[in-house]
Amino acid sequence: MHSKQFALTPRPLEMPFLIILLLIAPTSSAKESKFQNLNISLTQKVDNEGFHRELKWLLERGPTTFDCKLAIQLNVGPEMYLNPDQIADLNRLRHLSVLIDGEVDIETPAHLSTRHIAYIYVPPFEERVSLNIPFHLRYQRAQISGGYGKVIVNKPSVLALCPQSCARSEVKAPCDISNRILCKWNNVSYQALFDEVELLVPVGDLDDYPLVSIVTLLLGCAGCIYTLSVLSTTPL
Ligand SMILES: *[C@@H]1O[C@H](CO)[C@@H](O)[C@H](O)[C@H]1NC(C)=O
Repeated sequence: MHSKQFALTPRPLEMPFLIILLLIAPTSSAKESKFQNLNISLTQKVDNEGFHRELKWLLERGPTTFDCKLAIQLNVGPEMYLNPDQIADLNRLRHLSVLIDGEVDIETPAHLSTRHIAYIYVPPFEERVSLNIPFHLRYQRAQISGGYGKVIVNKPSVLALCPQSCARSEVKAPCDISNRILCKWNNVSYQALFDEVELLVPVGDLDDYPLVSIVTLLLGCAGCIYTLSVLSTTPL
């Protein structure tokens, strides 16, 4: 019995082959290896204060030879918006290449607004590229106690169009800014070098409401009286 087991132990010559087998086995069984790894990382910062902000992204990629087109998809919740006119200007000046999918009403407060999706098409780049996207916060409905409302900036998705599949999930999204054709993009996993961003918006105080109404009414009356008095004293 024992002698048989000894016979199974590898001879010195077989050792290198065994080691190579062991090195190959775990990776070939992992599902990930079917997809090329683009080694993408994204840093995100939110600049400026108040209602007018800017998203600052730094997109980096590893030294891959793969020729992929990249886009960032951002789900813009009802508490914020991208201004279509401002985006159109940035597109025209070739500072950015952004497509807004969905209707954007820049006047409505958060609770009367809908979400939209922004596709930010990344220009060709070597190792890293920075993208600055201006966005705006919406007024939120007044609360009893006033204070601050919270706005979560959704985590963006990085999409890639590559000659070869590079992610497990596919997303149908416009191929480019013209929004004429849909492409099957790969939803690429990336290293997020940032925490979830939560912004605060000052919210109106409902306790102030009666006072504000009375003052507004009085000012309106005063204006009327003044206008009437000017009109009645002006010789026709
Ligand atoms: C892409 O994948 C991430 C992580 O799996 C997911 O959270 C995100 O919603 C996906 N994006 C799209 C556009 O499907």
